[in-house]
Amino acid sequence: MKTWQYLVGGIVVVGLAIQLVPHELPAVESNNPADLIGSGVVDGEVANLLKTACYDCHSNETKYPWYSQVAPVSWLVGKDTREGREELNFSTWQEYDMMEKLKKLDDLVIEVKEGEMPMKIYTLIHTEARLSDAQRQQLVEWAETMMDIVAEEEDGEE
Ligand code: HEC
Repeated sequence: MKTWQYLVGGIVVVGLAIQLVPHELPAVESNNPADLIGSGVVDGEVANLLKTACYDCHSNETKYPWYSQVAPVSWLVGKDTREGREELNFSTWQEYDMMEKLKKLDDLVIEVKEGEMPMKIYTLIHTEARLSDAQRQQLVEWAETMMDIVAEEEDGEE
């Protein structure tokens, strides 16, 4: 055998072997009574932006493409989804208290303004999730209005 044949063979063997490493993609849950968009406070356009650009990592409704089941991509997708949901989960939005909501909206403004979110590795493949400057502006304005609403809701309860 030639050297390149050994190399290709080696890559194939390693590629198959890593499929045996256990990994877990966070579970998908489609019934989320505490969902942000489900609560009806987000208008259609912004809801669409959030669904397209954020919901795969920041909700329980992740849509896993086939290649996300294949190592090593599965390790990456599993980690980003798990950590994304931990930081901010729109599916459990109503369960956050006022301070948590305000903090998360404030973080959202910063991340979206600075172009940190959605993650670049994600928009590389999910081109539909790339945000234009106008769309970033739209999300920022929505989050700022939402912060006022959240603060007022709390006033009303007292
Ligand atoms: C590919 C997965 C992925 C997508 C898509 C994504 N995020 Fe994230 N997000 C993460 C991960 C992972 C973290 C935690 C690690 C970090 O902060 O980088 C995070 C953290 C955050 C945080 C908290 C940051 C902090 O630490 O203050 C906010 C806010 C956020 N994301 C908003 C968004 C918004 C808004 C969108 C859509 C426009 C979005 N993300 C899209 C994966 C994602």
